[in-house]
Amino acid sequence: MLIGKKILLGVSASIAAYKAAMLCRLLVKEGAEVQVIMTADAQEFIGPLTLATLSKRPVYSNYTGENGTWHNHVELGLWADAMVIAPATANTLAKAAHAQSDNLLIATYLSARCPVFWAPAMDLDMYAHPGTQANLKTLSSFGNQIIEPNDGELASGLSGKGRLAEPEEIVAYLSNYFKKSSYQPLIGKKVMITAGPTQEHLDPVRYITNHSTGKMGYAIAECAAQLGAEVTIVSGPVQVKASSSIKVVKVASALEMLDAAQTAFAETDIAIYTAAVADYRSADIAQEKIKKKGDTISIELVKNPDIAAILGSQKKEGQIFVGFALETENELENAQGKLLRKNLDLIVLNSLKTEGAGFGHDTNLVHVINRNNQIFTTGLLPKTEIAHLIWEQILAIIPA
Ligand code: C5P
Repeated sequence: MLIGKKILLGVSASIAAYKAAMLCRLLVKEGAEVQVIMTADAQEFIGPLTLATLSKRPVYSNYTGENGTWHNHVELGLWADAMVIAPATANTLAKAAHAQSDNLLIATYLSARCPVFWAPAMDLDMYAHPGTQANLKTLSSFGNQIIEPNDGELASGLSGKGRLAEPEEIVAYLSNYFKKSSYQPLIGKKVMITAGPTQEHLDPVRYITNHSTGKMGYAIAECAAQLGAEVTIVSGPVQVKASSSIKVVKVASALEMLDAAQTAFAETDIAIYTAAVADYRSADIAQEKIKKKGDTISIELVKNPDIAAILGSQKKEGQIFVGFALETENELENAQGKLLRKNLDLIVLNSLKTEGAGFGHDTNLVHVINRNNQIFTTGLLPKTEIAHLIWEQILAIIPA
């Protein structure tokens, strides 16, 4: 899967840098072109001559080479099909997470438009430190992928999570990525996804909302884009960001979401309703801030339109609709009822009973139910993986 792939291999200063030699050799053996960039300190751990020989290219470490030649980080970043940093130290991860561009490796990382893979290696406490974990989260939020370290014996003599993934594992991860990304069954398809919460204003400073983060909807959108679809997210207010190829229509209230979804709907082949739309909104939005008066206050709420159901009633032949359900009792029956009521083809039932699943978590466990009442259940997995599994179920019902 790596034949002809152009790979930037970033090497930072960890004792595990010796494994970069094996990684470089394996990548070249798989048919990749490899350009190594080392930090200055990494050269204390492994000589550039070794990596230059294995990659058959000079190793870059500084901005300039011999005779004043410039190692152009922008060109390097644009050249690559993938950038993998292995081993990635706590220091290099931190610099990348904060765009602190004080060496060629980070400048190239910031210039790269290709997918980026980080393979951390460090002592167990450094890895577990909230600062390192926060940096990894930040890098993931940029769309970078983390190739998790293994558990085992560490250079310090301690044992725990922090061992660089084995070169074979890193190569397998990259091959798998390229295999998935070259599979594009959604080319020519338009996908609309509603995502996030809605905000229902009471007055100019207050609103009713919920805890939805939009992570599941955005993960489904990213996956659809990878599978070749033209993707629009109609999104309530969220922190999560979408890749540049995805169109995001920002809305706040349920009425605005309906309006935007209705506009995108005519062109849509597949609509996925992941948004946690507020069931009710204030009957009146006060023009001025509501004054504090008595001990209690009543606000009249009116029902919001059900976006999935409204568009479900206008569904055209060939369109595929997928909804979500979050139930606390009679989960299956309720989800099956919604599938029919909203004229959906699939409904994804969120499990509230599993620790680590649902709102705000990076992981989820779902049951996907079709119109024949067949149920596919995932494990507790990162939302990105759940998104792939949901797409597998959708692809299975797309007419040929
Ligand atoms: O009825 P309930 O809110 O449980 O249905 C959940 C499904 O319906 C989700 O797919 C959600 O995005 C969608 N929905 C909607 N508009 C609403 C309420 C729910 O599109 N007002």
